[in-house]
Amino acid sequence: MNAVQDPVARVEAAAVAAVEAVGGDAATGVDAALKPSAKPEFGDFQLNAAMALAKKLGRKPREVAVDLAAALMSPALGLKGVIAEPEIAGPGFLNLRLEPDALAIALAGMDDDRLGIEPEMKPHGVTIDVCGVNVAKQMHVGHLRSTVIGDTVARLFERIGRTVHRQNHLGDWGLPIAMTLHSLLSRKVDFATLDLDTLNVAYRDAQLEARGDGRGLAAAIANHCGPHRIAELETQEESAGAAQTAAREALVRLQSGDANMVTAWKRLIEVTMKEVYRACDLLGTKIAPESERGESSFRDELAEVVDTFVRSELAVEDDGALVVRFDDRDRPMLIRKRDGGFLYATTDLAALRYRVQELDSDEVIYVVDARQRDHFRDVFDACRKIGWSTLPDGVESKLVHLGFGTVLGADKKPLKTRSGANFKLMDLLQAAVDRGTEAVTIRAAEPHAPTHGLPPSELAAIGRAVGIAAIKYADLSGDSARDYVFDLDRMIAFEGDTGPYLQYAHARLCSLLEKAGDEADTDASFRIEAPEERRLALLLLRYPATMQAAAHSLEASRLCRFLYGVATEFSSFYSACPVLKTEDSGIRNARIRLVRLTRNVLRDGLGTLGIGAPTRM
Ligand code: ARG
Repeated sequence: MNAVQDPVARVEAAAVAAVEAVGGDAATGVDAALKPSAKPEFGDFQLNAAMALAKKLGRKPREVAVDLAAALMSPALGLKGVIAEPEIAGPGFLNLRLEPDALAIALAGMDDDRLGIEPEMKPHGVTIDVCGVNVAKQMHVGHLRSTVIGDTVARLFERIGRTVHRQNHLGDWGLPIAMTLHSLLSRKVDFATLDLDTLNVAYRDAQLEARGDGRGLAAAIANHCGPHRIAELETQEESAGAAQTAAREALVRLQSGDANMVTAWKRLIEVTMKEVYRACDLLGTKIAPESERGESSFRDELAEVVDTFVRSELAVEDDGALVVRFDDRDRPMLIRKRDGGFLYATTDLAALRYRVQELDSDEVIYVVDARQRDHFRDVFDACRKIGWSTLPDGVESKLVHLGFGTVLGADKKPLKTRSGANFKLMDLLQAAVDRGTEAVTIRAAEPHAPTHGLPPSELAAIGRAVGIAAIKYADLSGDSARDYVFDLDRMIAFEGDTGPYLQYAHARLCSLLEKAGDEADTDASFRIEAPEERRLALLLLRYPATMQAAAHSLEASRLCRFLYGVATEFSSFYSACPVLKTEDSGIRNARIRLVRLTRNVLRDGLGTLGIGAPTRM
């Protein structure tokens, strides 16, 4: 099924065409959108355009409504058989009702593996900047968002048939890493038994030792500017201490390929990434070693990047440094420091060129903390100026910073432990998994629970899925640009707009289908009669359009809202329309088929969000 077959989309398109046909020039600015009807007896949708159009045309609204109805049903728009003859109500509303057969045919059309979602045939791929951890640092709650939102946006694009490249732009190069290495080596730390906690401490100590401007540095750390911004800040200090000198020497050795340094550096990455993949796997993301393309992988291109900007006269000298200036902002973008060092921005220029040109992407999406907005604005504009965002076939790649808000604690301040430290992401995830397991185990104790008698290992697997769903859904279901309060009690509830609620709805559907068992005739025709049945059917038909809209707008929340709607509409349907107890086998089988389609949509939707869907709960 494609959008043209989706009857709701067809009626929507026809409404626009009918308003244009009746209004001509006057149709501009008139809202031709369909509104869901307030009451089932009014039909499925209302078209309210007649009033606005009448005003502009200086005609009577009900007369315009008559014309609109005629235009809608004109053979050219092909709605015969899709909707019943429109009814005119009140001052000129048009009440529209889909024909039950059209609903049944459309449902049958989407009832296959694709669930109506046709793959988008595009010659280019999409790159998503995900995760972006910094080597030698623990993943904290900020990385939850770049990892979860990034992976889900990637899944949305995959689901609509696009080729997707996840890119993990690790902070694995530069002065902060060299400082950490120097600190570890000078303290003769055993690299074989090194763990991430030790590394993290070394990282912090090294930074503290080398810091000049304590206040500025503290602010930079608090603002998650990233290690490079922080290092940049430090090096601006005139009074570079001995520690800094040592760190810079360490960097030179690392850069020149000193074997000891390189071995130690690789070990640092290995220790960090082991932890990162533990979290990524627990979170059920598809972020893997193939996604790694850290800052270090662009190190040999930086001089050439800068040269290219200089040759194009886009970079100019400024007090010994090189900067790119923009007409519409005072702040220039620094791409080479006075001492010849490159910057976070320089690396991002090289990475962006690679993503568009080598990975062949017509869209590059950076799922990174909203506070890096200015940075990406500069990087994107510089790339556009120099032409790196244009593909060889002339297509202009869309560059997007999907900036996310901060995760807050109950006090509405950035989430911290009681001692003021960042929460380790793994600790947060573990807390959620424990809560999930507890909830699942309590339920399983009830004799009638579908999970009753399952072995502890299976209950633990379900509990893990529930805990992770709680965290991911809470992160995905809001507007990603906004901050949100991390409240595990709310997130993990089995009622309300939560991940576990959706999982529970899915598991109920699975149980129902299991009970239906062999008697279910999979090919029974859909029969959409009761109002609750209609509402569920109409919603399910929106699945393909919702998926496409969610992917194109980068709003996983749209899919969340849709699935929550499906779960609640299903509940109403199930309380109003008996399924297995229905005598008439035609109706029973039709309803079982509707239940199955609902289950499949929920399962597929949860899968696209990257949320597990256990069959029992
Ligand atoms: N490592 C960076 C930080 O912690 C995030 C990387 C984001 N991606 C990028 N291409 N700059 O701030």
